[in-house]
Amino acid sequence: MRPHSRWNLALLVLGLILFGLLIAVYKISTSPLLNQYGILRDYLDTNRAPNEAAATRSILLWSDFFGDARWSLPADTLGPDDFRHELGCEVYQCELSNRHDYLPTLAEYDAIVYHVAQPFPLLQPLSTQRYPHQTYVFALMEPPGETKHRLSDEHNFYNLTMSYRLDSDIVWPYAYMMDVETGARVAPTLQPHWRQVPAVGSWNDSEVLELWPQKLKMAAWFVSHCETLSKREDLAAALQQHIEVDIYGKCGTLSCARGDPHCEEMLDTDYMFYLAFENSLCVDYVTEKLYSAMQRRIVPVVFGGANYTRFLPPHSYIDANRFESVEQLASHLRYVANDVNEYMSYFWWRQHYQLVQHSPFCDLCAQLHRPGAQHRTQFYGDIEAWWFNSCRFQSRIRF
Ligand SMILES: *[C@@H]1O[C@H](CO)[C@@H](O)[C@H](O)[C@H]1NC(C)=O
Ligand SMILES: *[C@@H]1O[C@H](CO)[C@@H](O)[C@H](O)[C@H]1NC(C)=O
Ligand SMILES: *[C@@H]1O[C@H](CO)[C@@H](O)[C@H](O)[C@H]1NC(C)=O
Repeated sequence: MRPHSRWNLALLVLGLILFGLLIAVYKISTSPLLNQYGILRDYLDTNRAPNEAAATRSILLWSDFFGDARWSLPADTLGPDDFRHELGCEVYQCELSNRHDYLPTLAEYDAIVYHVAQPFPLLQPLSTQRYPHQTYVFALMEPPGETKHRLSDEHNFYNLTMSYRLDSDIVWPYAYMMDVETGARVAPTLQPHWRQVPAVGSWNDSEVLELWPQKLKMAAWFVSHCETLSKREDLAAALQQHIEVDIYGKCGTLSCARGDPHCEEMLDTDYMFYLAFENSLCVDYVTEKLYSAMQRRIVPVVFGGANYTRFLPPHSYIDANRFESVEQLASHLRYVANDVNEYMSYFWWRQHYQLVQHSPFCDLCAQLHRPGAQHRTQFYGDIEAWWFNSCRFQSRIRF
């Protein structure tokens, strides 16, 4: 062998060894044993998926809300800026429209909202095709007796519920109680944490103190549906046997023009109590009238199917169902009305809580952005049972 070719062989062997070494170093350095973070970083660098968290979700309002195509929202179509600034949503990467042609195809909407207290619109009874990624929302504020859909035909149809019920996916109350110090929305919720009620006589509300001597009438009731499932009309009639109850509207003898500010003002100036009697005894069902009474200097007397401790601060209202008879309720009302400190004590909460509005569409937007919302499937098998099993006909108080 010539020295020349021996030299070549040595070089080749060296090359092979070096090559092998390089491969080994490469293998070791890219092995998850040594390089777990690097592997993840490389993956994320080369597989930049569309950012799920930031992508805008699209919501279509399929039907109107009692003739209001906008569902009380500020416009027909809202974009992320509106969600952020008009509605004040924390999660705002959403757009919403009531125009079915807002996006080119139905498949592009992430959620479709149906108002269940109204039939499907005649011209748009139902989307013909259903997309597995799409969320159908069951939305309403009325009690089960006002349902205008045949829910037995709508099993396995809805993915989310949006209603006044506290066990809805999206809770939609008329108002929230906010703690003015912390800014937290305290209620309604299943287990609210209320502040301690101060002892009677340990503080004063100068406004109520001033109004109390002029409040010469006992109770006012504003009502336009005279015959109801809850039989509240019978309770009011029974109460009238014991205390003075002024009934305004179609079902009574007095009238006060709707929208006349005096009708509201006299609740502050003339009356001790406001009857907030619901037309149905359904779980969590309380109406706007209760909240408007809470804005005045008057004590609401409530009657309904809700557990009111989940909605209102303790000692801010009188619940008829805490009494066994109308006589007991009436005598308690007389006792409270006759003692200014006792009466005033029902207003303690005003220093600590405030009623605030919060759009359910903020919560819907947040739900659509929940991690995994697009990989999880959720739907209501028997929506009828869930919805209808929440009402009763018997109340505790006898009348
Ligand atoms: C009402 O709600 C409160 C708060 O969740 C609960 O402690 C209480 O047991 C409930 N009362 C009834 C009668 O269900
Ligand atoms: C509340 O006002 C009444 C009457 O003005 C007064 O007698 C009483 O001391 C006051 N109580 C408190 C705790 O300020
Ligand atoms: C909604 O429910 C239907 C079944 O009724 C299901 O096919 C669909 O995947 C669900 N969508 C979501 C986003 O969960």
